[in-house]
Amino acid sequence: MTVSLVWAQDRAGAIGKGNTIPWRVPEDMAHFKEVTGGGAVIMGRKTWESLPAKVRPLPGRRNVVITRNPVFEAPGAEVTDDVASALDLVGGTASIMGGGEIYAAAMSLATRLRITEIDVRVDGADAFAPDVDPGLWEPTAEGEWLYSSTGTLYRFLDYRRR
Ligand SMILES: NC(=O)c1ccc[n+]([C@@H]2O[C@H](COP(=O)([O-])OP(=O)(O)OC[C@H]3O[C@@H](n4cnc5c(N)ncnc54)[C@H](OP(=O)(O)O)[C@@H]3O)[C@@H](O)[C@H]2O)c1
Repeated sequence: MTVSLVWAQDRAGAIGKGNTIPWRVPEDMAHFKEVTGGGAVIMGRKTWESLPAKVRPLPGRRNVVITRNPVFEAPGAEVTDDVASALDLVGGTASIMGGGEIYAAAMSLATRLRITEIDVRVDGADAFAPDVDPGLWEPTAEGEWLYSSTGTLYRFLDYRRR
């Protein structure tokens, strides 16, 4: 069973601002599609609501939304009330795709981290990636810095649990 946390962060660990992602790196969107394609994606209610209507649910993937609201409806997705039950629902293998609250709740269950580092610093961010403790996480790949078509530098990092 592989539980991958997949996120993109700025140089200081920010992942979101005002319920949006505060940069545009299409290559990272393509990477996200590739690494999550065909599998299950698990997300918090706020991240679900942040998805543009035309990609909600995310196509080609089993979408699971976590909320404490027992009457919340997410058309095209399944709804559960915590990370463990979301993983049970999908048989244990999934990509956990945010946001900050759900990454924090899922970190202890994760086996793999797929992080995109974006070479920006976001002022006023309000959602953050969890800390990656080097005692618990071993880097398995550190991609080189690449230029996005938008001019922003980014790189892909991969960790597995020690
Ligand atoms: N850069 C990236 O890779 C990336 C990826 C995803 C999202 N984001 C960004 O992250 C931000 C959203 O993150 P967020 O932290 O504000 O929200 P979130 O994690 O997407 O969702 C939070 C909601 O999830 C539910 N929840 C959280 N913990 C729970 C628990 N332990 N048990 C049950 N339900 C729980 C609650 O829903 P209810 O209030 O309904 O109970 C809570 O309000 C946005 O800015 C988004 O664009 C960035």
